[in-house]
Amino acid sequence: MATTSDTAEMNGKAEVSSMPKNLWFIDGETYDLTEFMPKHPGGAQYLVFPGNDVSITFWSYHKDPERNKKVLDKYKVNIPDARPNRWHLPDSAKFLLPEDFDARGDIKIYNFDPKNKDLVLNDCRSRILNPDVQKNLRRLDKMFDQHVMYMRWVYLAFVVAWLVFGIPWYISTPAFAVLRTALGGAGHYFTHRTQPNFASST
Ligand code: HEM
Repeated sequence: MATTSDTAEMNGKAEVSSMPKNLWFIDGETYDLTEFMPKHPGGAQYLVFPGNDVSITFWSYHKDPERNKKVLDKYKVNIPDARPNRWHLPDSAKFLLPEDFDARGDIKIYNFDPKNKDLVLNDCRSRILNPDVQKNLRRLDKMFDQHVMYMRWVYLAFVVAWLVFGIPWYISTPAFAVLRTALGGAGHYFTHRTQPNFASST
């Protein structure tokens, strides 16, 4: 675990702390997930922004967050002066929030109690995890993969035809827009599925 002097921005002033760089925060606990990143079944890409409080993401993106939290136990660290970033956004998006925004106090705190059946999130989770729904999702996922595969061949054939024979702009422009947007959307969906998946194994 690399301990390095970190400069964090706090209330407009530069604040220097000696906490390690790669920390994540969930429910007030501090984790160093550097070693876990490559093992994350959802892909390492969701953990590339350390320093943030990821409680909301953690509780809302998993089938069984309680079980997953046990996996994280061994990455828990005790660093008294560790605290999440003030901004949970890339620099380019900071203009969307007021100057004095501070994610540590201004982001709403939700009740994620997994035992509370009245919570909308728990209700959604139990409906989605219903075996029939899961079976249907697997069927639809398979169909999705097949259609993406067809689309990929159509796209390649279209590019070859466009390069070799030439296709008028009023056909090629909308066709490229539709095919590329569809393939881009499919790629995005693959990054959200358990890894390795169709996209990472081809
Ligand atoms: C940002 C904080 C996150 C943390 C700390 C985290 C942590 C974890 C942990 C500990 C597991 C269980 C690993 C195991 O059983 O060995 C897991 C599983 C998984 N994660 Fe994440 N995760 C995060 C975000 C996400 C996001 C944003 C996605 C997808 C968009 C995601 C997708 C998955 C999937 C698909 C699995 C496997 C299935 C499941 O257990 O639900 N994770 N994650």
